[in-house]
Amino acid sequence: MGKTGKRRPKGPTLAETADRHRLYELSVQCAEAEIDFVDDTFRRLRGRKPRLLREDFCGTAGVCCEWVKRRRTNEAVGVDIDPEVLDWGHTHNLSDLTPAQLERLTLLREDVLRVRTGPMDAILAMNFSYWLLKERDQLKRYLRRAREALAEDGMLFLDAYGGYDSFREIEEERELDGFTYVWEQAKYEPISGNLICHIHFDFPDGSRMERAFSYDWRLWTLPEIRDLLAEVGFSRVRVYWQGWDEDGEPDGNFRPVQEGEADAGWICYITAER
Ligand SMILES: C[S@@+](CC[C@H](N)C(=O)[O-])C[C@H]1O[C@@H](n2cnc3c(N)ncnc32)[C@H](O)[C@@H]1O
Repeated sequence: MGKTGKRRPKGPTLAETADRHRLYELSVQCAEAEIDFVDDTFRRLRGRKPRLLREDFCGTAGVCCEWVKRRRTNEAVGVDIDPEVLDWGHTHNLSDLTPAQLERLTLLREDVLRVRTGPMDAILAMNFSYWLLKERDQLKRYLRRAREALAEDGMLFLDAYGGYDSFREIEEERELDGFTYVWEQAKYEPISGNLICHIHFDFPDGSRMERAFSYDWRLWTLPEIRDLLAEVGFSRVRVYWQGWDEDGEPDGNFRPVQEGEADAGWICYITAER
């Protein structure tokens, strides 16, 4: 019996039967839009189509799958350290690929700080995954190695978020189809810059998937990231900011800018040219 006096329906709750990886993909990823940005930006800056893409911290490899579907010549390498998430990707995402697409996709269970691959046109580290590297030397090592793994005209693609709300211990909710995505910035520590965040999912039957994902990050700022990229030898670093639609909401179009805006919360892309 619940507090309201209502009897809970028999059987498992929605939270108990939901798949956390699927919910993650539905809430925070848009592989098509990400690949549109990578493809268009690379072509514009390099004057050719990119072909070889490495997705670091690839998780379920949705972005790699989108890449090999995009063009018959495209090849992707996904790198993640966690066998569980890679297995999920194999079962749920790679299973949708044709044999020809599968042949052009390799998943490596490796540490991004150690992995060795051939020269890539584009290396991606998205959804702030590189913030797991909390020490300056560690992030610098990753960026140096990423640069070395790029072709002569290769590019590194990162994203970042910030704004004054990013330093606050807050929860934000977003209603999605059949569930609510909850982003919790649980603890920010200003001396180290360490940030602990969680993703929870709430369901219409009142159940919650608590801490479906947790992150122990450093909240890196853009000047720090740009300095590190320059220090490891990237020739040019650009930042891409979103515009606004007529309702005053971010419009999803990222354009290169020299100056950002002091918003409460912003997300941007960063490119670094080898
Ligand atoms: C937030 S998920 C990112 C998923 C995906 N890139 C995205 O855009 O949403 C972070 C992933 O990084 C992986 N990871 C953490 N440390 C790693 C490391 N040192 N080397 C490779 N993968 C790592 C985790 O297993 C996890 O799947």
